[in-house]
Amino acid sequence: MTRSVVPVALGSRSYEVRIGSGLVDGLGAEIAPLLRRRKVAVVTDETVAAVHLMRLAKSLEQAGIAMTALALPPGEATKGWAQLARCVEWLLEQKIERRDVVVAFGGGVVGDLVGFAAAILRRGVRFVQVPTTLLAQVDSSVGGKTGINTAQGKNLVGAFHQPSLVLADISVLDTLTPRDFLAGYGEVVKYGLLGDAGFYDWLEANGPAMAAGDAAARLQAVTRSVEMKAGIVSRDETEEGERALLNLGHTFGHALEKATGYSDRLLHGEGVAIGCALAFELSQRLGLCAQEVPSRVRAHLRRMGMKVDVADIPGDLPSAEDLLRLMGQDKKVVDGKLRFILAREIGQAFVAEDVPPDLVTALLHEALAGRV
Ligand code: GLY
Repeated sequence: MTRSVVPVALGSRSYEVRIGSGLVDGLGAEIAPLLRRRKVAVVTDETVAAVHLMRLAKSLEQAGIAMTALALPPGEATKGWAQLARCVEWLLEQKIERRDVVVAFGGGVVGDLVGFAAAILRRGVRFVQVPTTLLAQVDSSVGGKTGINTAQGKNLVGAFHQPSLVLADISVLDTLTPRDFLAGYGEVVKYGLLGDAGFYDWLEANGPAMAAGDAAARLQAVTRSVEMKAGIVSRDETEEGERALLNLGHTFGHALEKATGYSDRLLHGEGVAIGCALAFELSQRLGLCAQEVPSRVRAHLRRMGMKVDVADIPGDLPSAEDLLRLMGQDKKVVDGKLRFILAREIGQAFVAEDVPPDLVTALLHEALAGRV
């Protein structure tokens, strides 16, 4: 298998996620059928532009498609009102119309921001996601969640706006730092943990080769992750139920990200991995899963060279009580109750609404003391 196609079934808004090596070089031919005139606007960030924009420009030129491009500053700070306004105004200046297509070429920040810009530009234009990080390929580019951060929190302003096509070129993953790759792997492992024990077994056997650059393993892992996400999104697009399972590890993870100021101390995917380990620990303490399950999860993350425990986060952290309060501000709070994704076994996650806060605080105390 050198390429795979995963359909996202959403009625008239259905689309394909195409995964393979070298898709950026064939982008022109891939998106040409979507175009009503041979012109696209590409929005990227400066880091991706420096490494990959020439390839993309060449492929559009070969397909006879005119390109106009905007490179935003890299980093999470870009995902706010200022760069959103800049992006939307630039698209208007480029005279992008409702019949046109906008291309989001970058990681999760670019995908979320450009997707939201496309959602509000002229009340909605079509867009294509070309995700360049592992995290964006397996998670944020699929499913239509778009938006920005505000002073009040992350992703609090946005829209569901599905892309018309997602092109995940696994060859661009070769240029990621090992740390960024492994942060994305946190989201890959999440899929096995939440709903596919067989995939988790496969990751235990093949994760190290995948991290070392094995293209076949990368294709298989991205494809399985996207299949799982596509299935969940097509059954529950707007997160009324099952889609919440994708937040496994995120309640703990978001609190830790917030506590570290969304800085280089802890990347999102690293917070998710630590959060998954804590969610399994909590599940075990609630008598939901067997004693050995959390150790198995931690052993795999450790073998991958990832951050596993709260103690792996450099620098000081707030108290357990303060971390609990940070969880309380998370948008996964419903009617003031903390919602956790817990598991009965690897691959069997479910939404729990009634976890006793005392148990969570006790777990966090131990985690902060390096005992979990
Ligand atoms: N990243 C979680 C979701 O798309 O629902």
